[in-house]
Amino acid sequence: MHYNIALLEGDGIGPEVIGEGIKVLDAVGEVFGHSFGYSRGLVGAAAIDAVGDPFPHQTLETCQSADSVFFGTLGDPRYDNDPGAKVRPEQGLLAMRKSLGLFTNIRPVKAYPELMDSSPLKNERLEGTDLVIYRELTGGIYFGDKGRKKGSAYDICDYSTHEIQRVAHLAFQAARKRRRKVTLVDKANVLETSRLWRETVQELAGEYPDVALDYLFVDNAAMQIIQNPSQFDVILTGNMFGDIISDEASVITGSLGMLPSASVGEEQTLFEPIHGSFPQAVGKGIANPFATILSAAMMLDVAFDLKEESRAIEQAVAKVIREGEVTPDIRPGSRVTTRQAGDAVARGIQQVKV
Ligand code: IPM
Ligand code: MN
Repeated sequence: MHYNIALLEGDGIGPEVIGEGIKVLDAVGEVFGHSFGYSRGLVGAAAIDAVGDPFPHQTLETCQSADSVFFGTLGDPRYDNDPGAKVRPEQGLLAMRKSLGLFTNIRPVKAYPELMDSSPLKNERLEGTDLVIYRELTGGIYFGDKGRKKGSAYDICDYSTHEIQRVAHLAFQAARKRRRKVTLVDKANVLETSRLWRETVQELAGEYPDVALDYLFVDNAAMQIIQNPSQFDVILTGNMFGDIISDEASVITGSLGMLPSASVGEEQTLFEPIHGSFPQAVGKGIANPFATILSAAMMLDVAFDLKEESRAIEQAVAKVIREGEVTPDIRPGSRVTTRQAGDAVARGIQQVKV
């Protein structure tokens, strides 16, 4: 089967890590008899530099006509400390999510036994952790009305029942294939939108009597994710809380360089590592490609329903980690480069198949 993938490398280490993702996809194609075609598009600071727009219309069209979208990272220090910038690379990501209708962001987090020592948390706290965050991605405070008044600024947080229901359904369906537990993370003691989340999710839970539902305020959740992460199965939450707790949860894996993600909507899917553009690492060969490679694995599973192929990538990554062919973020002092780590996974795909 042939799959047409829109390839958005973006900024910073994006091109380097996406290069390793493609390497691994092509290895899967060879071993399992699929072919992947790539159509490139500009996004982020690279797109601002080239055409003055962080998400040009042509890139939207490339994404719309592809079977799925594989995205690297975006962001550039030129904009980070300039609150007055008129256009920002991040607007490209938000526009991409909104215009492709990607309303749910799925971020799995698990503790790899070999990486536990790179986490600042004690091993016994990490053991058995295998959770997934379902973050609402196209609503809430990120997309509400925002602006300045004289001497003040505002960002409106707004959620409709429909927006809550569609992400909640996906979270409950995921829980059914896992350990059958959903934890809704909100701030219902303070925020009206959070009270609507609770009401809506509680009602919808009636359709999933086989799934347990509990609730945590986000401040408490932030503490429990560190204190006792293995209690969580599926975490369901809004856009901003999901952004924050998913970076927090990355310490469980030992490195932000290990976390993949999927974004899904009615029509299109997108896969990206959750780490940022890591400008300090550009060109040094030290970027960890595993978050991107594992995002490719999620693409095979979620977008193309290629389960065996997806598992082959995950197993190859696990093996490479066991054998220590990893970048210095997870093994301090390691001289293994981004490319070598990617090569090791690609070689591993051949072995997993036999
Ligand atoms: C993420 C990022 C983005 C977000 C930024 C770059 C806009 O932090 O994907 O988590 O806040 O959603
Ligand atoms: Mn984030």
